[in-house]
Amino acid sequence: MTTPASILFVCLGNICRSPTGEGVLQHLVEERGLDSKVTIDSAGTIGYHEGNPADRRMRDHASKRDYDLTSRSRKIVPDDLDRFDLVIAMDRQNHSDIMEIDPTATNVKLMSDFLDDSWPVDVPDPYYGGADGFETVLDMIEAACPNILDELLR
Ligand code: 4NP
Repeated sequence: MTTPASILFVCLGNICRSPTGEGVLQHLVEERGLDSKVTIDSAGTIGYHEGNPADRRMRDHASKRDYDLTSRSRKIVPDDLDRFDLVIAMDRQNHSDIMEIDPTATNVKLMSDFLDDSWPVDVPDPYYGGADGFETVLDMIEAACPNILDELLR
């Protein structure tokens, strides 16, 4: 691991799930006084929303749990796979899209690798659904983040 340890969350558009990963882990890191030990970023596998803030609905749901989502959307670039210690894909499609960039990458994991089997394998895409979808995203990411932090600091 580099110092500080670095992590990149990745979803499709980088406006719902991966900004939430970034915001929830950042909150946990600050709560534990570990700011200087961890660098956190997020990206999307498509550049369609490049430069945009996180989706208003996602920000509103996150804000009710005290998370501030401040990221701007960007597309993942090949260098990210070298630069970040850990790259976490929200679903299997994101994972396979990332692996197409570099089939030899060994630092790419699924969010559900940090959850027990009672959770779905994929963090469901909330973009075209209702309020429940955004809450599920938060539930899954909140459950996984302590385990992700343990892995990063190991
Ligand atoms: P995300 O959600 O991948 O969690 O950011 C989506 C955002 C945008 C779209 C799909 C999913 N889209 O089709 O534009």
